[in-house]
Amino acid sequence: AYRSDDDYDYLVKVVLIGDSGVGKSNLLSRFTRNEFNLESKSTIGVEFATRSIRVEDKVVRAQIWDTAGQERFDSILLHILMIWKNRTPLISLFVASNRYRAITSAYYRGAVGALLVYDVTRHTTFEAVERWLKELRDHTDSNIVIMLVGNKADLRHLRAVTVDDAKAFAERENTFFMETSALESMNVENAFTEVLTQIY
Ligand code: GTP
Ligand code: MG
Repeated sequence: AYRSDDDYDYLVKVVLIGDSGVGKSNLLSRFTRNEFNLESKSTIGVEFATRSIRVEDKVVRAQIWDTAGQERFDSILLHILMIWKNRTPLISLFVASNRYRAITSAYYRGAVGALLVYDVTRHTTFEAVERWLKELRDHTDSNIVIMLVGNKADLRHLRAVTVDDAKAFAERENTFFMETSALESMNVENAFTEVLTQIY
């Protein structure tokens, strides 16, 4: 039977987090529009896209939020630079960090699922997962479904994080785990669908 775009049983919020450049926006565009961009720019502000999937006899509409992985850090650095160059009073740093704290809570508010993404070719992005997990747990309900996602699995010759290490981390932290490739469309569908299915 035909179901229109706004005909769904559940609306759920899922957030994408992880360092800049790991492929969050491309995972989102692959999942919601089947698009991939090799030269995508870093995300500015917050974006979101939706897609409905069927879970058993229900239609679940996922509202997936995406933001830049480094925005806050960059902004604070910029403020420090401006203060140092004597263009801004110290108070602006305080205002900026509070503003970003407010944006952070709004970003996580109501999220029931999260994809925590790292890049399998950059070990530092895997090391950052711990910090992202802490931020996520500080801002969300303890029942949130978390999928650790090792993206860019297509770059086999550049791999810097082993599947075993990621699996061990996921087991220890009680999250799901999958490697994906937004480029090759590998496991992208599975990663999102698994999160949406586990929510119920
Ligand atoms: P921010 O918005 O800055 O936080 O980055 P992001 O996590 O959204 O990364 P984005 O999706 O913009 O991708 C960064 C770069 O990695 C782009 O050049 C993409 O084309 C590339 N990329 C993303 N996913 C894959 C993938 O699965 N494989 C390969 N080879 N490249 C990818
Ligand atoms: Mg992005």
